[in-house]
Amino acid sequence: MQISVRNKKIDEELFMRMRREVLKEWPTGAEVDFDEAVEYQRNLSEGHNFMKVTQKLREEGRTAVWPRAGTPVLEDEIALVKTLVASGIVHVPVTIDSHTRRYDYRKAQQGLDESIRTGKPHLNGYPIVIHGVKNTRKVIESVEAAFSPRGAGKLSMEIALASGMTAAGKSAFLEFGSYEKTRTLEDCFEHTQYTNRLAGYYTERGSIITTDLHGFVPSGVFPLSVNLACIIVDALMAAEQGVRSVMPQSHFMGNLVYDIAWLRVAPRLMREYLDKFGYTDVVIPGTLANQTPLYPVPLQLGAAFGYITYSAMTAALGEVEACFVRTIDEGLGIPTEEAHTITYQAANWIFNVVRKQKIQYELKNIGIEEKMIELETRAIIDKILELGDGDPVVGSIRAVEAGVIDSPFCPSIHVKGAVLGIKDLEGACRYLDFGNLPLPPEVKDFHRQKIAEREKAEGRKMDYNVVIEDFWAFSKGKIIGA
Ligand code: 5AD
Repeated sequence: MQISVRNKKIDEELFMRMRREVLKEWPTGAEVDFDEAVEYQRNLSEGHNFMKVTQKLREEGRTAVWPRAGTPVLEDEIALVKTLVASGIVHVPVTIDSHTRRYDYRKAQQGLDESIRTGKPHLNGYPIVIHGVKNTRKVIESVEAAFSPRGAGKLSMEIALASGMTAAGKSAFLEFGSYEKTRTLEDCFEHTQYTNRLAGYYTERGSIITTDLHGFVPSGVFPLSVNLACIIVDALMAAEQGVRSVMPQSHFMGNLVYDIAWLRVAPRLMREYLDKFGYTDVVIPGTLANQTPLYPVPLQLGAAFGYITYSAMTAALGEVEACFVRTIDEGLGIPTEEAHTITYQAANWIFNVVRKQKIQYELKNIGIEEKMIELETRAIIDKILELGDGDPVVGSIRAVEAGVIDSPFCPSIHVKGAVLGIKDLEGACRYLDFGNLPLPPEVKDFHRQKIAEREKAEGRKMDYNVVIEDFWAFSKGKIIGA
């Protein structure tokens, strides 16, 4: 396979040419004046800077909710961010609508017009390209908080950063593995290199932009070793393009000890590989957590609260700076303002009560979990680097082909899907099928033994049907689908 993308900083002249083309895609692109935007960024308060806000949370030993939210009409978006900030949120997301995310700005414009005409949202997020810089600055200036665009493509990121957003989270793997069916990883890398280069360009001129990194998010029950290996690739890519503040996003898979082990290992391994590649000046201001990714959410209201507060508890004990919890109405569609408010009241109650206690807990078996996580993740990242002759980007593209990067139930047609995950007796994720993952024998034995224990306890074979039962467990108020 011919691979043209490399993990190499985009040449400045080429980047400027690329930017000129991107800014022509919609009239609001003309509102981006880079020098003025850097000046605007530098005059923003510390409370508007994603890195500084995160560092402050860390110093104070606090955890904040980091939600997802966005609505089409400008005035409604301003009301929404005010509601979020009133709920104690300091990292404000701006979830961009699907049409804009797919570069269909015409449809986004129609959706916005329709929303204004009917008084009801006709888009599932904020159409940032349609609103442009001047309007989006009104959103940012309406509160004291740091803003992060979610799902931003090239032009969306240009507008977001020129408007004063100070985060540029974008993971090629997240797009490839969770949102796309036919797009290639190479194409996703090319787009992420642009947004990283832009974030780096601002950073080099004194306005530090942070990127949060998702890696390859599995679509169900699955150990996170592939995910973390890809988060590390994401970090190496961002650093190469000039980004100097990166944060890992760890996903909760359900078992408390296991989830906290991942939270501990993620920044540690990220640091190690950044240093190994010479990016020693890249800061990791904090760690972000996410409520279990794609498991079905409980339909009963009380159970939905239980799920949210359990996730908040894991985040508090894991001492992360911010955690994405779903809202209680996640199963119904885009959350109402009221749902945002009462959901985060519940999560904040846990954060505030638990973190203040500085609980020094002993978690049985966390040592062995951390050891296995390191062995698994190192094996995968080292294989990726080997496949790319030292280049993590080239290596990742080859790794997907070889099944070294793999995931079950992946929407992408390019992913092998030769692997399966399942829960053990305590609800930690284990490999049921290793596929072509280059895992060491010690790791494989450990996973096999955990699965054998559950087979014995339940008196049945662990197979695909159990995998599906496990997928549904949380929505039914159980840790495993027994
Ligand atoms: N408001 C709130 N949450 C949203 N999500 C997507 N769009 C919005 C929005 N406009 C959530 C999804 C999912 C996550 C990826 O983002 O419901 O939980």
